[in-house]
Amino acid sequence: MTRAVPDNRPEVRAATPATRFRDAMATFPSGVTIVTTADWQGRQWGFTATSFCSLSLDPPLVLVCLAKDAQCHPAFAEADSWVVHVLGTEHSDLALRFATKGVDKFSTAVFHESSRGHPVLADAGTVLECDTYDRHDAGDHTILVGRVHEARLNPMTPAVYFRRAFHPVPAHPSAGHS
Ligand SMILES: Cc1cc2nc3c(=O)[nH]c(=O)nc-3n(C[C@H](O)[C@H](O)[C@H](O)COP(=O)(O)O)c2cc1C
Repeated sequence: MTRAVPDNRPEVRAATPATRFRDAMATFPSGVTIVTTADWQGRQWGFTATSFCSLSLDPPLVLVCLAKDAQCHPAFAEADSWVVHVLGTEHSDLALRFATKGVDKFSTAVFHESSRGHPVLADAGTVLECDTYDRHDAGDHTILVGRVHEARLNPMTPAVYFRRAFHPVPAHPSAGHS
């Protein structure tokens, strides 16, 4: 029988549970997205998210988790639809911008308007246009569930966020054409 041995190194013992939790999450590599929408006044909103994942094939559902204290939370809590962009390595500045409160997030890159009137990053890799399917309360976040009504794939080298930094992943030769 194996038994877990407590890690008693000082740096581990000194960590608060929240710090430990964040450090544990930082060991999990994930893709990087920005999620955008527009409110009923046409004002554009967006945030960087690594909490994105595929949820269901039939119907095609994805989810992303948004902090309740985000300035854009009220807009996403009301939005009927929103857009997920999978970012490439060339988008690391944009990812940091969309993770910064109080800045104009849409002025440094080219965005088109989707059929639903939402901002779509012109040179994004994969773009998933979603209609709000459900929302769930989850601690200090809201889980946004979207039903994908349009998916576009463009060739790219996806960015991976790991240990609080962006890293490139070599694109598969057929990326964007499968
Ligand atoms: C790499 C990275 C991933 C992030 N992932 C998430 C996420 O999944 N959910 C979230 O609510 N915030 C996430 N954030 C933080 C938000 O992008 C950031 O707080 C953003 O400014 C919130 O929107 P606001 O400016 O409207 O407040 C992430 C930040 C970074 C740098």
